Parts: sequence; structure tokens; C-alpha cells
Amino acid sequence: MENLLNQLKTKLQASGQDPENYLKGLQHNRAINYWEYVQVDTLLSLQNPRTNFKDETIFIVYHQITELVLGLIKHELEQLCNDDLSTELFTEKINRMIRYTDLLISSFSIMNKGMSYEDYNQFRLSLSPASGFQSAQFRFIELMCTDIDLLIHPHFRKNLKEDSTLKEKFSFVYWQEAGYNREADTKTKTLSDFEKKYLDSFIALAEKMKVNNLRQKYQNHLVQTEPNLKEELLKSLRAFDVKYNIEWPMVHLETARTYLKAKGETKTATGGSSWEKYLHPEFQRRIYFPELWSEEEMANWGKE
Ligand code: HEM
Repeated sequence: MENLLNQLKTKLQASGQDPENYLKGLQHNRAINYWEYVQVDTLLSLQNPRTNFKDETIFIVYHQITELVLGLIKHELEQLCNDDLSTELFTEKINRMIRYTDLLISSFSIMNKGMSYEDYNQFRLSLSPASGFQSAQFRFIELMCTDIDLLIHPHFRKNLKEDSTLKEKFSFVYWQEAGYNREADTKTKTLSDFEKKYLDSFIALAEKMKVNNLRQKYQNHLVQTEPNLKEELLKSLRAFDVKYNIEWPMVHLETARTYLKAKGETKTATGGSSWEKYLHPEFQRRIYFPELWSEEEMANWGKE
């Protein structure tokens, strides 16, 4: 105990704090409790349905759960990209990202099976032009995982020049296909509102990630590491690429089909995209680590 107190005293003095006042302050601290620590009341006050349909609450909460999980993936990526981790820890953090993505994949049945088809197709009408497409965390994650050039559809990569600016690159990024009509040079409100709010921060992040996104960082690890650790790392990267860029998009697309394509008619999405084509991983060709896949695997990417 005395040893512990001495260590605390040294630590506090090193940062210019008075140990005696600090300990007196501790005496007055209220005991922590679960509900304040987890902020339960705040969490449960964040759902504001726009209609009286009961299942809209499920829709909002599940989107919020997803944003929290995406926040966890981003939390790991911030360390993977910015810190100097050992290869073991680097791989462990990618494995965490895999577990979080597994959670997103396995829980998506809450959407696909867990809402009334009729209610969903009523309350969604009041949500337009909002769309999950406007999730910024989803885009932050991809910018931290790979190079911006790889987020441009292969078909458009020929438009890139040596000196293309990031702004020019973002005008070809794959997600423009959800709402940019190039012939008419018009954008859906979903897309233009999204860019107005976030494009500057996407450009800033892409700039920051040029040299230390996950793709760049793992390549540095490969140079240094021993064969068995290298193998584990590559296995984890491949698993994450498939789960995040094929399996999760597929359960999401299946859900869109359940609600927007059942009963013989294809409904317009709230974000206004040609959604069945756009959302398919085979069309998007989002592959974070292309060098880890054979030509054949790439050619079959996302094929059902
Ligand atoms: C009934 C459930 C859902 C349906 C029918 C649905 C439908 C759609 C559709 C049609 C799009 C294409 C954009 C548009 O035109 O609106 C889209 C995009 C998107 N949605 Fe959902 N969605 C559902 C649930 C979710 C959930 C729970 C999330 C979690 C945040 C989510 C996240 C996204 C994301 C990130 C995109 C953009 C994907 C990309 O650009 O590759 N969606 N969704």
C-alpha cells in the first residue's frame, strides 16, 4: 500500500499536481454506478421516430447499433494506422475488426426478418431523401483501409492522371454511382447533401492516410516479420476484405430485396439510387487489398 502511495505521489508530482489535494478530492468522489458510466438514459433518449409505426423504432435502433460497431472498427483502425504496433498486435486488431464485422453480418436478420413488410414500406416514405448511404463512418473506414485510387471503379481509373487532385479523384469514387448522373451532370439530393456535409473531411482524411492507411501499413509489416506471423496477418487481411466487402454488403442487399423487390415490383430507394445494381459487390468491386487475391478470385469478386 505504501509503495502504491509513493508511486502515485511521484506520478502526480511529475505532472505538477499536489498529491495531498488530489487524495482529499478522492475522498469526496461519489461512487460510480452502472447507469451513469454507460449513460443509459442518454442512450435511450436518442430514438425519435417520425411516424407512429412501432417497427420504426427497430429500424432506428439497429442503425444506431451499426454506427456504434462501425465506431469500434474505426477505433481499431486509428491505432493500426497511427501507432507503431508489433505484428502480433497488428494482426489481433484486424481480428477484432473481423469480429465486429461478423456481428454486423449475423445480426442483419434483425432488419431482414424482424420488421413488418407493410409497416416498413409506410414509414420509409417519410424518410426520403435520407439513406444509410449517408453514413460517414462507413466512408471513413474505407479511407483508412486502403488507397483512394482503389476506391475508384476500375472502369474509371483510366481517367486518373499523375497529378489528379484528391477532389478530382473523389468525383470518380465508386459511391458517386449511387446518385451522380454524368451525362446530365446532376446529383440526387441524397448525394449532394452528403458531399456538402462531409466531402471536405473525406478529402482531409484521404490526404492524411496517403502513407499510413491499413494497406500501406501492412506492407511495412511484411518486410519486417517472420514467416508464420506473416501468414497469420495475410489470412486476417483476406478474411476482413471478404467479410466487409462481400458478406456484409450481400446481407444488406438481400434485405433491400426483401423490402423493396418482393411482391413483383421494384421500389424506389429513399436515396434514389439504381440500388440493386449499385449495392452489388460484383458491381462496386470494392477490394481493399487486391494484391492478396489471384486474378481469378478478383474476376469472381462478389459473384452470387
Ligand atoms: C430494411 C433495411 C434497409 C434497406 C431496405 C436498405 C436499403 C438501402 C439502399 C436501397 C441503399 C442504396 C442507396 C439508396 O438509394 O438509398 C442503401 C445504402 C446503404 N445502406 Fe442501407 N438499407 C437498410 C438498412 C441499413 C442499415 C441497418 C444500415 C446500417 C448503417 C445501412 C447502411 C447503408 C450503407 C452504408 C449504404 C451505402 C452502401 C454503399 O455505398 O456501398 N442500411 N441501403
